[in-house]
Parts: sequence; C-alpha cells; structure tokens
Amino acid sequence: MRILAIESSCDETAAAVLDGAELRANVVVSQIDMFKAYGGVIPEVAARSHLEAILPVIDKALLDAGLKTAEGKNDWEKIDAVAVTHTPGLLGSLLIGTLTARTLAILHEKPLYAVHHLKSHIYANWIGVSEAEAPEFPLVALVVSGGHTQIIYMPNHNQFEIIGTTLDDAVGECFDKVAKILGLPYPGGPAIAKAAEKGDAEKYKLPHPQIEGLDFSFSGLKTAVLRAVQKEVGVGIDFPSHELRERLNTQQVADVAASFQKTAVEILMEKVRKAVRERGEVKSVVLAGGVSANQALREAAKELEREGVRIYVPEKQYAGDNAAMVAEAARFEIQAGVEPTDPRKLNISPRSVIY
Ligand code: KG4
Ligand code: ZN
Repeated sequence: MRILAIESSCDETAAAVLDGAELRANVVVSQIDMFKAYGGVIPEVAARSHLEAILPVIDKALLDAGLKTAEGKNDWEKIDAVAVTHTPGLLGSLLIGTLTARTLAILHEKPLYAVHHLKSHIYANWIGVSEAEAPEFPLVALVVSGGHTQIIYMPNHNQFEIIGTTLDDAVGECFDKVAKILGLPYPGGPAIAKAAEKGDAEKYKLPHPQIEGLDFSFSGLKTAVLRAVQKEVGVGIDFPSHELRERLNTQQVADVAASFQKTAVEILMEKVRKAVRERGEVKSVVLAGGVSANQALREAAKELEREGVRIYVPEKQYAGDNAAMVAEAARFEIQAGVEPTDPRKLNISPRSVIY
C-alpha cells in the first residue's frame, strides 16, 4: 500500500509518500522565513504561498520516492491512496491542500483519506518505528501545538477521548506571544528555548493556574510574564508592550525565557501526571505537536517513567507540521478498515477552522 499524503494546514506545504510502513519521501516547504518579517502568520499570504508550492512539492515527493515513469511523469499507477489534512487549520491554507487532494483522487481514481491534523501529530510517533517499539495502548497523548493544547486518551488505534483541553490560549501560542514581548523572532517556541539555555529558570516566580480537572489555561501565564517584565524594567501596566524589548538586556531576556519555559512545562506535566494517575491502566504517554520539539518538555516527560509508563516523543523533524505524519495516520485508518471519504463531498467544517 503506497500512500501520497498532503499537509497544508498552517504555514508549511508538505507532501510525503509512505510505502507500507516505510517512509519513502518527506518534503516540507516552510513559509517561516517569510513570516519572520511580520512576526506571525498572515492567513491570506499563507494560502497564496501554498498555492504556488503545492504542485512542485508533490512532484518532488514522487520523484524522491522513485515514482516517476521513464518519461519523467508522475506514475499514478503506483499510488494506492491519497491522504490529506482536512481540519483544523487556517481556512485558505486547508482549502489549497484539500482541493488538490480531492482533484488528484478524482482524476486518478484513488481513495481519499481526510485526516484530522491533531490525529496526524499523534501518529508522528509511529513514523519509522517497528511494531515492537511502537507506543502501547491504552495511552495518554499530550497534543501541544500552535493552535491546540489537549490531553487525549486513546484506548486503541483510531479511538480518541479528549479528557483535557485549554480554556483559552494554546501553549504554542503562549510561547509565540511571550517571544514577542521579549523581542524574539517568530516562531517563538524555538527562540524561547534557545534564549532559555543561558537563563536562570528560578529568577521569576510565575503562577500556575488553578483549573479543576485536566483542563489548561495559558492566558494568565502570558499576562504574568508581561507584568514581570514591566516590573523588571520599572514601567507601569499601560506601557506599550512592543517597546519593552528595547529596555531588556540579553540576560534578562534569557532569565524570563527560562522562567516562562519552566512554568509552562510544569503546568503541562502536572495535568499529564494527573491523567495517568486517574486512568490507572495507562501504558504509554505520547507527546505530539510543534511544542513537543521542546527539550525541556521532553526531559520533564521522561520523569513520568517513574510512574510506570513509557514515554514517546516524535523525532524532532516530525514534531512540527509535515505530511509523513498524515500518511502514517492514514495507514492506520486503512488497516482498521475506515471508509475513505468521497472526494466530491469532502468539506471543511467551519467549526474546526481557525480564522
Ligand atoms: O504543530 P505545529 O508545527 O503547528 C500547529 O499545528 O500549530 O506547532 C507550532 C507551534 C508554534 O507555536 C511554535 O512556537 C511551537 O510549536 N514550537 C515550539 C518549539 N518548536 C516549535 N515550542 C516550544 N519549544 C520548541 N522547541
Ligand atoms: Zn500542527
């Protein structure tokens, strides 16, 4: 079974080819460099960039996978299924990927698998991993991306129960916003992690939200960082936040970054630990999404092994958005006999779209 997968939910245009369990091609074209200049993603610009990149990216994936005919054309006979991220994400971005996938599926008469983006992030943990080494069920997945922060209980493949979610900002969004306060570039996560390496994580005491159950809140943490910085540089709460960066020195930036990162990781791990304890029978904890690339989070998660669970993290190259994870998620849908989607009817639900 060869799957061509397409991902375009935010600011990466990606295509991958999975042959059985073997990843044969994984092409990612990122728009990050362009959005660095703006300090964030501009949805309309992202959609237009996807439109330019999508066909060359698919072509390159098929070339890398050795799926060209002698005449150099794409050899569609050798593709058995098309998979695509259909939600959640930016509306225009999703439309480019889904319209391309639907067209290819109709034109070449292939079954189409519309895969949920967060499910794909979870399945990044299966890429290139043998059955013996793969996460065991039941598992708890911590999905931490730019748009989502969720704890998901999975009794088995393709079964998801959302047991915790953020009530306001996503943790990745919080990294991005704190980076802005500190004058660090977009995307904020890697920039904060780098600055934090030279910082004192104990310098600023930041509060943990008092939220019942397994839900999260990150908007308070962002405001607490803002207040700490305002206090540090001796200005009031009405001082324009975009002017704060000029008043901070490198060590102060590093100390705020380290203190923030430590607190964010603690907040996440407190709830994951609670989920594992409450569910009792959990065998694995799986990290997923862009923020799972964070080294401090990975190290904190490892400590959960004391609770008798195994910890899984995706390879760093598969933590952010890519199409290999979409293909991997589709592979398990196909194995489980999930029905393909009618390419003429695939719709993006307005409720799952981030505007
Ligand atoms: O999963 P992803 O690539 O896109 C979405 O589906 O949202 O996640 C992007 C998020 C951004 O907020 C980015 O700042 C964050 O992941 N991120 C990180 C790191 N690398 C990316 N956050 C913390 N530490 C990192 N090393
Ligand atoms: Zn993502």
